[in-house]
Amino acid sequence: MALALKRLKSGLPIAFPTETVYGLGAPIGDDLALRQVFKIKQRPFFDPLIVHLADVSQLNQVVSAWPKPAQILAEAFWPGPLTLVVPKREKLNPLITAGLPDVGVRIPRHPLAHQLLSLAGPLAAPSANRFGRTSPSTAQHVTDELGPEILVLDGGPSEVGIESSVVKIENNNAYVLRPGAITYEMLKVCLRERLPGVHVHLGTDASAPGQLKDHYQPSQPLVVLNEGDLASQLVKAKARLGLNNAVELKLDSDPVLAARRLYGDLRELSRDSNSFIYVFRKHEEVGDLWTAIWDRIEKAATIKDPQSL
Ligand code: TXA
Ligand code: MG
Repeated sequence: MALALKRLKSGLPIAFPTETVYGLGAPIGDDLALRQVFKIKQRPFFDPLIVHLADVSQLNQVVSAWPKPAQILAEAFWPGPLTLVVPKREKLNPLITAGLPDVGVRIPRHPLAHQLLSLAGPLAAPSANRFGRTSPSTAQHVTDELGPEILVLDGGPSEVGIESSVVKIENNNAYVLRPGAITYEMLKVCLRERLPGVHVHLGTDASAPGQLKDHYQPSQPLVVLNEGDLASQLVKAKARLGLNNAVELKLDSDPVLAARRLYGDLRELSRDSNSFIYVFRKHEEVGDLWTAIWDRIEKAATIKDPQSL
C-alpha cells in the first residue's frame, strides 16, 4: 500500500482490486497520470473513465448535482458493483468524462480498494486491460496484460468477475447503459418502492460512449453456437477462422459462478494459438445476471452465428 501511494504521488498509475474486475487508477487531479492511463491501455480518448470513491464524503469532489434517484440507488447498492452517471463538477478534468457533461462514479466494496481510495482520494480507473480486451479478474491477469512495470495491489480474485452496472440518471429517469450484477430487476424493484415516478429503461441511446460492438475480446477468437447441428457450425467456423481446433467455454449453471469465472476461463482457453473458443447460446440463460454475462459474450464474440456464414 505504501509503495502504491508513493507511485501515485510520483504520477504513475497503479492497478488495484475491486469486487468487479481490477482497475488501473490515477488521481482525478493529475492530468499527466490520467494521460498515462489512456496510453498504457491504448484506449481512445472518446471512452470516459469511471471515478472510484472511498465513500460519499468524496462525492462533492466529482459531481455537481446528486439527483434523488442517484441518492436512492446509492443507498441501496453502494458500496458495490454499480456506476452512476450524473452531472460532473465543472472543474473535473475533461479527459475523465471524454468531454461529456456527465461523470460515472462508483464506490467499490473491496476492502483494499476502500483503503486505497481513503488514503489516495478519488481515482479515475478503467478496467486494467488493453482497450477492447478481456478485463482482468486477478492480479496475475493485470501483469499478463500490462506487463510487470505496472504495480498491482493484489486483492485476490474478483468476487463478481464482470464490470459494474452503469446507470445514467437523466430527466429523473434511470437508463441502464451497461448491464451488470446490479440487475435491471433489482434497480426496478428498488426505485418502484422508493420513488414510484421514476422509470428504469433498459438499453441505451446509440450515442452513449463505451457501447462499441466489439469489446471484452479474448486473445483467441470466440464463437457463439446455437443449439442444433454442432458439427456443421464448427466446420463453418473453422473454415472462416482458419483454425483447426476448438475448445469449449462451459458456463456454470449458477450465474454468480459463471460471471466470476468468465474472464479467467477465456484467458485459460486462449493459451493455444491454434484453437478458437466456442460457447453454446442457451434459452434458459436470460434475465438477471445472465443478461450481463451474455452482453459480454456477445460483444467478445468474433462470430455470433455460424449458420449465417
Ligand atoms: O466494474 C467496473 O466498472 C470496472 C472497475 C475497475 O470499477 N471499471 C470499468 O471501467 O469497467 P471501463 O473503463 O472499462 O468501463 C467504463 C465504461 C465506459 O466504457 C462507458 O461505457 C461507461 O463506463 N462510462 C463511464 N463514464 C461514463 C459517462 N460519463 N457517460 C456514459 N458512460 C460512461
Ligand atoms: Mg473496460
